Amino acid sequence: MAERRGLDGSRVLVTGGAGFIGSNFVHHFLGRFPASHVVVLDALTYAGRRENLDGIPARSLTFIHGDIRDPAAVAQAMAGCDIALNFAAESHVDRSIETPGEFIQTDVFGVFVLCEEARRVGLRRFIQVSTDEVYGEVLEGHSTEDWPLNPRSPYAASKAGGDRLAYAYWATYGLPVVVTRCSNNYGPRQYPEKLVPLFVTNAIDDEPLPVYGTGQNRRDWLHVEDHCAALVALLEHPGIEGETFNIGAQHELDVLAITGTILKLLGKPASLVRHVEDRPGHDRRYAVDSSKLARLTGWKPAIAFEDGIRRTVEWFRQNEAWWRPIKAGEFRAYYERMYGQRKVLKEAGA
Ligand code: NAD
Ligand code: DAU
Repeated sequence: MAERRGLDGSRVLVTGGAGFIGSNFVHHFLGRFPASHVVVLDALTYAGRRENLDGIPARSLTFIHGDIRDPAAVAQAMAGCDIALNFAAESHVDRSIETPGEFIQTDVFGVFVLCEEARRVGLRRFIQVSTDEVYGEVLEGHSTEDWPLNPRSPYAASKAGGDRLAYAYWATYGLPVVVTRCSNNYGPRQYPEKLVPLFVTNAIDDEPLPVYGTGQNRRDWLHVEDHCAALVALLEHPGIEGETFNIGAQHELDVLAITGTILKLLGKPASLVRHVEDRPGHDRRYAVDSSKLARLTGWKPAIAFEDGIRRTVEWFRQNEAWWRPIKAGEFRAYYERMYGQRKVLKEAGA
């Protein structure tokens, strides 16, 4: 295995660092490399929360409220950095069906702005955080990194654009790009539009859990801490520029199984489940093969799903002060638009 390189003392740009995975990454990274400094560039969209970075020592963090589509903000944020990870994105599939233009703007054009500046300043590593959704639905087997890309939602297509654009900057200009494609994350500070936090917080309030269609759609579920550890392993590894890595847990579950687990952990009845009209173009299954990453770095998931989901449910139980204001704000109008008129297909037990 090639010699690892030191990260302590580095200056790292984390775009989208006030979002779910980005903020968990900042906590994880500075916990392991306390002599490093993180610059967060975040537009604080509905999904970005400044409070997600509470507890980070001021000497370790520079927070810049700005947009990755803005070259001046990007230049300010990247100055003096030797590494950048791009988490900034519009990230929710249902919103991409509603307003696809915003996804193309941030998830494609924003990557272009970042790559241009990265080329100018000469970073030593640029990680483009992509997604397993770029492969489209994988009905059998596990997608390896060389599978064709066949994204099927505006979100996934925009991410595929950013993914390949970053790669093109490596192939064309030698920008030291690494692309990662991770499966579904869950964990603390996840915005409650996504399945796990939505169902946990609805169940706490005895509100219905809106399962799309049959509930048999399958995803691979990885705790966000394991995702962060994989990213650090890739930052430490020299000589992988231009390469793509899948990151997955090999822990596939369908929506009904997740729903059942959440209800059980909260001691809530199955009667909360509502089967509602399906998401248009709903991908039935994603499953990645992450053996390339494991072979190269020795990384493997450390958190078993049963343990991770129990800790996550507990986090939402303990942190109502984090999610209640979110659910009372912009989220209410979103929820009404997304679910208010949605046809109910089946009540639980019916
Ligand atoms: P999120 O929606 O919780 O956070 C996105 C963050 O990006 C927010 O802080 C938001 O304010 C910021 N942002 C959005 N547009 C911006 C812009 N134009 N300029 C600057 N900041 C902007 O998303 P997440 O779930 O934390 O996902 C982070 C990244 O990981 C995304 O790129 C996503 O595609 C990818 N990803 C997510 C998952 C998952 O399961 N959540 C899995 C694989 C990959
Ligand atoms: O696979 C990685 C991707 O995972 C990331 O790139 C995305 O950013 C992230 O949002 C996630 O996409 P999904 O569409 O898989 O996540 P979501 O939480 O929206 O949905 C998970 C599954 O649950 C999916 O099959 C749809 C279903 N679902 C979701 C919601 C919000 C429901 O049945 N009801 C719901 O209300």
